[in-house]
Amino acid sequence: MGLRAFAPGRVNLIGDHTDYMGGLVLPMAIGLGTEVTGDRGGNWVMLGSDRFEGVAEIPLGGVEDPMAVEPPWARYVAAVVDEIDPDDGLVGMVQSTLPAGSGLASSAALQVVVATALGADLDDPRAVAEACQRAEQRATGVPVGIMDQLVSLAAVEGSVLRIDCDSLTLDHIPFPADAEIVVLHSGEHRELTGSAYAERRAQCEAAEQIVGRLRDASPVDVEAIEDPVLRRRARHVTTENRRVDALASALAKDQLAYAGELLVASHASLRDDFEVSTPMLDQLVGTVRGVPGVYGARVTGAGFGGCVVALCKPKTRINGPVVWRGRPARGAALLST
Ligand code: GLA
Repeated sequence: MGLRAFAPGRVNLIGDHTDYMGGLVLPMAIGLGTEVTGDRGGNWVMLGSDRFEGVAEIPLGGVEDPMAVEPPWARYVAAVVDEIDPDDGLVGMVQSTLPAGSGLASSAALQVVVATALGADLDDPRAVAEACQRAEQRATGVPVGIMDQLVSLAAVEGSVLRIDCDSLTLDHIPFPADAEIVVLHSGEHRELTGSAYAERRAQCEAAEQIVGRLRDASPVDVEAIEDPVLRRRARHVTTENRRVDALASALAKDQLAYAGELLVASHASLRDDFEVSTPMLDQLVGTVRGVPGVYGARVTGAGFGGCVVALCKPKTRINGPVVWRGRPARGAALLST
């Protein structure tokens, strides 16, 4: 087996449900991810998986409707093959250390690692991320943003990544030396994410019809929205965008106590204004916040279950369902051909 490609999952430190509104996000790659090993050649992409049953068998030239492909995990492969349109096929295996359905972007890691294995141009991470984002939308019907794919591609070890999802400007912000990230699983597998996610996005778009771009809306504009649900959704997006820049500068200045407060404020906004938390996530965030050495914690990713992210002093002991701990990891790579 000559070819080896890797793409990491991510944890989002702050800026959730802002990417698809052209807002700001601050994710980082984690040390868990997905690998493809195999050989290029032929007219098919044929992949097995250590996680999911069945074989992805996708002809070059693509498939008409990725959503009709079986087994379900092969829909992501089909959509990526269609978007990347490689000259050569691939026979190999997919192996992953990322828990699926946990808010750690396991589906984005799968798209990105397949794109990488098929020879996508990693020197142009924005274009590859856009292709993978389209692939995810076509494979699932969920109108996802670009954060997960772009951080999996563009992350740099030791730095968090600020993404302006409007201009796709990337800023690498060194992670403080005296801090560590811990990711804990609530035990709740995300469910109904698709429809609830699409509904939230539609509500944000409806709010934008009233006040103009949420990115530019003032608190006064937002509070004047009559519909209480649309007002809350818009309030989350506008305040969360401000928290992204506040956290980026707090991390750059090593103001860790303030950084922790921002995580806590983000959780409250996702819970109360965006309504994507759950009682179990709230409870886990509450417990983790009380542990000595923890600066702050929040739900991470789309919500509705999945994981909590905590900012801590290094080696903080947390007795809980820790999935991963560490510092920002590297982005996707073609390790051998
Ligand atoms: C999912 C999507 C991302 C983003 C997050 C919420 O992970 O794939 O684009 O919208 O939810 O921040």
